[in-house]
Amino acid sequence: MLNRRSFIRNSALTAGVISLLKSNAIASLLGDQGLKDYFKDDFSVGTAIGTRTLFRNDTEMLDLIAREFNAITTENALKWGPVHPNEKKWNFDVPDKFIEFAQKHKMYTQGHVLVWHSQVPRDLFVAENGTQISKDALLKRMENHISKLVNRYKGKIHSWDVINESITPEDGYRKSKWFEIIGPEFMERAFHLAHETDPDCHLLYNDYSMDNQKRRDFVVELVNKYKKKGVPIHGVGLQGHLNLDTPDLKEWEKSIEAIAATGMRVHITELDVDVLPYDWGRTSEVSTNIEYAKTLNPYVDGLPQNIQDKFTKRYEEIFKLFLKHRDKIDRVTFWGTSDDGSWKNNFPVRGRTNYPLLFDREHKRKDAYFAVKNLKQ
Ligand code: GLA
Repeated sequence: MLNRRSFIRNSALTAGVISLLKSNAIASLLGDQGLKDYFKDDFSVGTAIGTRTLFRNDTEMLDLIAREFNAITTENALKWGPVHPNEKKWNFDVPDKFIEFAQKHKMYTQGHVLVWHSQVPRDLFVAENGTQISKDALLKRMENHISKLVNRYKGKIHSWDVINESITPEDGYRKSKWFEIIGPEFMERAFHLAHETDPDCHLLYNDYSMDNQKRRDFVVELVNKYKKKGVPIHGVGLQGHLNLDTPDLKEWEKSIEAIAATGMRVHITELDVDVLPYDWGRTSEVSTNIEYAKTLNPYVDGLPQNIQDKFTKRYEEIFKLFLKHRDKIDRVTFWGTSDDGSWKNNFPVRGRTNYPLLFDREHKRKDAYFAVKNLKQ
């Protein structure tokens, strides 16, 4: 017979069992399916994987990535600084783990990045005598870097970001050390070298704020020039570091259309949506003005419902746009996987609490995830 105490204990157990069953049911309803499955007829869905995840073999995160994504990029490990910190030293441990993971799960593998002005060794542009390196010597360094790296992962890295962020709306070509020392042909040379080393590899130019009309026009002009000259370029990466209200997606759409019209494939390479306020004109006041600093980091204890809703809606609109242009887009890659690991917690202000991705700090799917998924049902 059931006395009161065992009844209470049993009901508590039952409630526990029911909630467990419920969460199992939800999990099994979702099964092993992830974003890669919902969008399988549209484009690949990718994520940038952090060095720590690979290095520490974070199995919880690796399993999540394997369930959700079919494309993968290294967040930092293949950048010049980390992978080739000086002329004689190469760090292949993490990139090798990345390739192993990608191959195990049959993922599309994006190499990021061959030539960029940032995250390079401090002495890359310096000659042995301490002066600025000559054009020929820098070209040699670039050749050595590209041929060794592309060759090592030949047939395993399916696509490389050959050039990153080398165009600015103000100046056309960014006045980087690459440009200053070699001239604009450093870009063409890099594409040729990558292509000569791995002729089957898909080669991209990658940049941010591609909604900007001047940058868009310059990229389109560049691609057309390259096509005429036979420079092997196959696609353009639109990074996709977006905010809640900006940019206007219509401007971004114009870039997707204009790039595709040149015959290039479109890749969305670094998607995230920053929810925090920021005033570029007032940056310098952050350390001195406590009130201002608080307004920059307002959601330390969680995101208010109205902002969450706005965020969800924003992702829904973004993915609607991608689906509309699915014939032009090969891949949509998020810059990171879950909010806790996002670079957006530290940029453009360090130490904030941001919420830019589809997985929260406990690695659970957010409402925005389901909104995006539901576009396919
Ligand atoms: C740029 C680069 C990326 C990364 C992000 C910020 O978009 O292309 O490699 O550094 O900035 O993390």
